Amino acid sequence: MNPCINPLEGLVENQSPEEKKYSQEVHKLFNCFKSLFSSKPDFIVKVPGRVNLIGEHIDYCRYSVCPMALEQNISVAFKQTENGELNIYNIDCQKYVDYHSTVDTFSINLEDGVAPQWYEYFLCGVKGIQDLLKEQGDTGKMRGVSVLVSGTIPPSAGLSSSSALVCAAVIAVALVNKVLLSRSDLASLSARAERYIGTQGGGMDQAIAFLASPGCAKHIEFHPLRSQDITLPDDAVFVVGQSLATKNKAQSSEFNTRVMECRLGAKIIAKKKGLECWKDVLYLGELQAQLGVSLEEMIEMTESILTEESYSKQQIEEILEVTEEELNSAFLTPNTRSVTLFKLRQRALHVYEEAHRVAQFLSVCASDSPADSKLRQLGNLMNLSHASLQSLYECSHEALDNLVECCIQAGSYGARLTGAGWGGCVVALTNKSNADSLLKHVEEHFYSANANFKSDLIFKTKPQPGAQVFRCDENGDCQMVTLE
Ligand code: GLA
Repeated sequence: MNPCINPLEGLVENQSPEEKKYSQEVHKLFNCFKSLFSSKPDFIVKVPGRVNLIGEHIDYCRYSVCPMALEQNISVAFKQTENGELNIYNIDCQKYVDYHSTVDTFSINLEDGVAPQWYEYFLCGVKGIQDLLKEQGDTGKMRGVSVLVSGTIPPSAGLSSSSALVCAAVIAVALVNKVLLSRSDLASLSARAERYIGTQGGGMDQAIAFLASPGCAKHIEFHPLRSQDITLPDDAVFVVGQSLATKNKAQSSEFNTRVMECRLGAKIIAKKKGLECWKDVLYLGELQAQLGVSLEEMIEMTESILTEESYSKQQIEEILEVTEEELNSAFLTPNTRSVTLFKLRQRALHVYEEAHRVAQFLSVCASDSPADSKLRQLGNLMNLSHASLQSLYECSHEALDNLVECCIQAGSYGARLTGAGWGGCVVALTNKSNADSLLKHVEEHFYSANANFKSDLIFKTKPQPGAQVFRCDENGDCQMVTLE
């Protein structure tokens, strides 16, 4: 990784093609910032998007996941302001309106069924650092920022553009306020901060945004947050393709409904198993730890305790011995209070089986099997993951299923939806010799009907490093600074 990007004086020697491309993005961002604010930015922060290889919808149940960071990123040029002012602009000003307020007066306005404004994700990051300063008893005046945002992560495509913006905001506001945090702390704080947008995500996106390393996927565990490199078979190539169905998970209640179904399922099993602490149990992973049993046993237990039929709110109130008001206020989020039926058994089964597949995925990667056998086993686990997301978790979409099918027909070892689902992207596993023909097949068979096909709708991934910060001088030299 070349630490030096010089946007004004041409490209630095020996840069990789990705670094050269990024230098051009920085060049544009630096110059736009200067003309917008009549002064240079102090820093530019770059936060990658991500793709998750396996372990979907289990991070918020405290199970581990296997994501990698992408080349696509959100970059933010910024500078401290006087009097706590917040000025948030996007380089694509046709599409994204600007926002002006102060650190004392800004607000995040959520409305049921309405997608948040793009800049509200940035405000989540501001609020995250504001909370931290308050917790630390800092009584001084919080500093504001002027920012210009640019991005190459397609929005609402399941590649974590929103979390990248929240993470970038956290870094920017932390830096101008001289708050020093480790990468792990930045990740945990960003995950908490993003919940101000109303979704109860689990922390995978923010963790990989900070903890990624170039060239490898990561195994990320939670509570406490930690990460390890995954050694993938040499010949493995992961291809990511957009299904062209988009989904903003903060706009509908489906994402939070899944989180709540998992929590209610955990609580009911805990109560039925006679755990003294059942009232405090919130996560399916925590439940397994409390019971001290294997994932296989959790799967059997789920099948014997939870019913196939959906649970009505009234049934849940009776089992948990709570009133409707208590259920609403202590258990459910504002956007899930009007949900009337909850599928507890199907969701819990997906979670325990997917957690098991993550363990199998890691053991295949670490095994001595021949490379081709490893690829087949990994592909099979990815196919099983997709089938489970489709039937038990019900978060797929026709376009995702068709794209998965198309990748399989193109010789992929396995393919699955990645990210929250209901639209967004698919990740497919292939090998080096088949990768280009897979791209061509999918272009011809899946994207053929789409007149606006652009080659960046489907691409081979190259695992990138986590968030990077560059300090910019008057001449536009931007040097990478360490984030630890
Ligand atoms: C979203 C959330 C993550 C995770 C995935 C599904 O991206 O932000 O925390 O739950 O969905 O795996």
